[in-house]
Amino acid sequence: MKIAVACDHGGFPLKETVIEIVRALGYEPLDLGTDSMESVDYPDYAKKLGNAIQQGAAERGILMCGSGVGANIAANKMKGVYAAICHDTYSAHQGVEHDDMNVLCMGARIIGVEPAKEIVTAFLGARFVGNDAGEERHARRVKKVRELEK
Ligand code: RB5
Repeated sequence: MKIAVACDHGGFPLKETVIEIVRALGYEPLDLGTDSMESVDYPDYAKKLGNAIQQGAAERGILMCGSGVGANIAANKMKGVYAAICHDTYSAHQGVEHDDMNVLCMGARIIGVEPAKEIVTAFLGARFVGNDAGEERHARRVKKVRELEK
């Protein structure tokens, strides 16, 4: 599975760690920048990552800024992108399992390297359960979210 990874300058301190853990978990990272602490605009990187998801170049994405907030807001403006800030492992896996989240947002000014590794591991290890027997309610709710998107 290909995983798009992008950040602004605020998220850059976490990017290399994220790429390393994505690779260590057996996934293929798609590095969409930015590549330094030089100031850039987070919507530009949310757009790159969202386009990669929309075009099928990556199945999921990990997007970082200083707080995770700007990245999250921008990413969710893009059709087919279902992003959430997760600074804990429970949200990172439950967001996929119940809500079909496909983009994980984190703030590099909020969490450190070790929590980020665990959060990425929880996110990538999770699968949407809405198609499993007895879990149809999640598919029903996600379908309603898709309706809102229209
Ligand atoms: C950039 O300074 C900062 O505003 C940005 O990374 C992000 O935290 C916005 O939500």
